[in-house]
Amino acid sequence: MVAEDKPIGTRVAGGISSASHQAHQRDAGDVHFRPIRPDDWHRLQLFHLRLSAATVARRFHGAKRELSAPLAHRFTDIDGRDNAAWVATTGTRGRIVGVARYFRLSPTSAEVAFVVEDGYQHWGVGRRLMDRLRGTALEKGITDFVAEVLPTNTGMLRLLRQAGPIEVRREPDAWEVRVDMTREPAPPA
Ligand SMILES: CC(C)(COP(=O)(O)OP(=O)(O)OC[C@H]1O[C@@H](n2cnc3c(N)ncnc32)[C@H](O)[C@@H]1OP(=O)(O)O)[C@@H](O)C(=O)NCCC(=O)NCCS
Repeated sequence: MVAEDKPIGTRVAGGISSASHQAHQRDAGDVHFRPIRPDDWHRLQLFHLRLSAATVARRFHGAKRELSAPLAHRFTDIDGRDNAAWVATTGTRGRIVGVARYFRLSPTSAEVAFVVEDGYQHWGVGRRLMDRLRGTALEKGITDFVAEVLPTNTGMLRLLRQAGPIEVRREPDAWEVRVDMTREPAPPA
């Protein structure tokens, strides 16, 4: 059952639909969305362990490291106002397959970060997380999202564009992208 307006499509893990990958085919309609909770800390550690080095590099712009218990508690025991996060979960045990969070930088702006488990990427999970995080942020008076994104990260750039018009500041290592959520997003490129 989907906690959703629209069903999420069925995709093949990694986006490759050759016969050799059929065994990995899954139905992403089984994904649910909810705000993160303090008791998610260990699920978050397990989620982090399952991420590929490439996904970790895109999210943290560095090498893969274990998520320590203190850090996992810090990421899950949050106030939902200045520091908020949504998770995408699946299965009876609520395995985490995606996390989107913001951290307030000023009364009206917040830094955002997203990560979706490799096998669930490109299924619309990120887009649904963005819809929810954007809604929470606007309720709490946040109108601008800011993200540090690698210029090659097309998926994240598309996600940000769906939240509102963007302004990009090109830094040597990454782009600083600012989204104005008070205005309608630009039509898809
Ligand atoms: C970026 C990320 C969060 C996107 O999540 P996702 O669930 O894969 O995204 P969605 O399936 O909802 O797709 C969102 C948009 O990006 C596009 N997209 C997603 N992955 C893409 C890819 N690898 N290449 C090109 N476009 C991609 C989708 O087509 C969609 O655009 P559309 O709606 O205009 O068609 C996910 O790929 C991820 O976790 N990447 C690694 C970590 C990371 O880069 N984090 C961002 C740094 S803060």
